[in-house]
Amino acid sequence: MEVIILPTEHDVSELVATRLQNLIAKKPDSVIGLPTGATPLQVYKKLIQSFKENKIDFQKITTFNLDEYLGLGPKDPNSYFSFMKEVFFDHININIHNTHVLDGLTVDVAKECDQYENSIHHAGGIDLQLLGIGHDGHIAFNEPGSALRSRTRIKALTKETRQANSKYFGSLDHVPTHVLTMGVETILEAKECLLMAFGEHKSRAIAKMVEGAISSSCPASALQFHPNTKIIIDEQAASKLSRVNYYKSVFENKPEWQLKAEGFLSN
Ligand code: PGA
Repeated sequence: MEVIILPTEHDVSELVATRLQNLIAKKPDSVIGLPTGATPLQVYKKLIQSFKENKIDFQKITTFNLDEYLGLGPKDPNSYFSFMKEVFFDHININIHNTHVLDGLTVDVAKECDQYENSIHHAGGIDLQLLGIGHDGHIAFNEPGSALRSRTRIKALTKETRQANSKYFGSLDHVPTHVLTMGVETILEAKECLLMAFGEHKSRAIAKMVEGAISSSCPASALQFHPNTKIIIDEQAASKLSRVNYYKSVFENKPEWQLKAEGFLSN
């Protein structure tokens, strides 16, 4: 796990967008895992901008979203499918048939979740998984207490997560109580993970994930097992880490060949 600390959300989003752009240039049929929420919004904006400037072609990529609210269909404005269309898919040349979001209206939850796992497998696995993190250390909707070997399944949301997401629904009462979500182990199978976080309010979760024990109390800490994960955060989200100077010096002193090999600089 490498921690990259940059001054602002803008810098973090720029670096992550560059990584995605380089990945797609190298492998046009990349399989990419996508998050929703506020964290990835600037990355999506930057990718849309690059698309408009003819610097990136999304035609052959395949995407899998991390999660969806149970009970919300793709046409519901609060569904994550609608969210993805509004902030990203409708603005690029992605083939909508190559995008995957769990079906929140399924009548057979177990079958839907199994099929999602199978679709990821048949696509060849996820090349790059983008992630945010919840205040409580959740990734996707794997709330604290989630098995670290969990697969795609139904999950009940904590009151805190429903509260945090109520801004999209107008009131807490309207936030669904259950979701379908990729499991922790599903996420760990991605070839590469990039987790982003911004702001002081994420600093406790970041410190627990990076420097705490691997524990289901902080599902994101399972990323410590992953051999190719980068945690890319702003100064405020890094404020409770104890090895900030070390993390910064590793990234600042990285040779150009390594940045290119990792896809953070164009060849
Ligand atoms: P956010 O959510 O990007 O809206 O902060 C992240 C999460 O809950 O995983």
